[in-house]
Amino acid sequence: MSSTIKDVKGLVALVTGGASGLGKGIVERLVRNGASVVICDLESSNGQNIADELGGKCIFVPTDVTEEKDIQEALKITKAKFHKLDAVINCAGILKYESVYNFKEDVPHSLEDFMKIIRVNLAGTFNVTRLAVGLMAKNKPDEDGQKGVIINISSLAAFDGAQGTTCYAASKAGLVGMTLPLSRDLACEGIRCCTIAPGVFDTPLCKYVPEEDLKEILKTVPFPHRIGKPDEVAHLVKAIIENPMLNGCTIRIDAAVRLGFSRKD
Ligand SMILES: NC(=O)c1ccc[n+]([C@@H]2O[C@H](COP(=O)([O-])OP(=O)(O)OC[C@H]3O[C@@H](n4cnc5c(N)ncnc54)[C@H](O)[C@@H]3O)[C@@H](O)[C@H]2O)c1
Repeated sequence: MSSTIKDVKGLVALVTGGASGLGKGIVERLVRNGASVVICDLESSNGQNIADELGGKCIFVPTDVTEEKDIQEALKITKAKFHKLDAVINCAGILKYESVYNFKEDVPHSLEDFMKIIRVNLAGTFNVTRLAVGLMAKNKPDEDGQKGVIINISSLAAFDGAQGTTCYAASKAGLVGMTLPLSRDLACEGIRCCTIAPGVFDTPLCKYVPEEDLKEILKTVPFPHRIGKPDEVAHLVKAIIENPMLNGCTIRIDAAVRLGFSRKD
C-alpha cells in the first residue's frame, strides 16, 4: 500500500461481483478517488462495459469466484497490469428464497441449491481471499507494517435472517465468523480483514426478495427511512481501506433496521 494511507489514490483493488449493484458502486467510488480497479465478475456480466466507461484505471477479468483457475488468472493480470494488489472486496453473491421444507407439497429444501449458495457466497469469498493474500503479501509495508486489506460483504441476514433464507443467512454468517480468524492469520503479513453487513440496498439482487417482504421490511427501517444506495456501502469500503485500526470486525450499515418475524402459512 502507499506509505501514508490518507486516501485510496494510487491503490490497486480487486472487486468481485463488481459488475452490478453494491460491487459496481464500490468500483465507481474507488476509481473516482484515484484507485485502479480489477472487476472480477462472471463472463455473462456487464463488467466489460463498466470497465470501458471508467477508462484505463479499470479492467474487467471474467471470473467465477468458485474457480481457482479464474482467480489465479485475474491475479496474474492484476500483477501484469498494475504491478501489485492492495485491497480485495469480496462482493460476489447470490440469493434465493426457499423454506427448509415445503409442507404443503411435502418437499424438502433442495440440497443442491443450499450447496450452490454456500459455494458462491462463502467458499467463493474464502477462495479469492486465500489466493489473493499471496500477491498482497509481496507489497512493501507502510510505516505501520501494513500491506493490504480484505473486505467481505456479508448481510443483515447473518444476524436476523428472514423466513426462507436459511441458506443465504448461513453463508453470510459464515463470513462474519471467518473475519476474526482471517485477521489473526494475516496479521503476520500486515493484512487486515473486515466485513460489512449491509441492510437493504437498491440493487438488482432485491428482485429476489418477495415484493411483499421488501415492502414490510422497508416499513420498519428507523432512519433514514428509505432503501440504501450502493454508494453508501462504497463510502464505508473506502473508510475501512483508509483506517488501519479497523480490523477483525463486522460493521453493520443498515439504518438500524432489524428483521422481525411474520408467519406466512
Ligand atoms: N442489495 C442488498 O440489499 C444487499 C444486502 C445485504 C448484502 N448484500 C450482498 O451484497 C453483495 C452484492 O449484492 P448486490 O445486491 O449488489 O447484488 P447484484 O446481483 O446486483 O450483484 C451481485 C454480483 O455478483 C456476481 N456474481 C454472482 N455469482 C458470481 C460468481 N460465482 N463469481 C463472480 N461473480 C458472481 C453477479 O454476476 C453480480 O454482478 C452480495 O454478496 C449480497 O449478498 C446485498
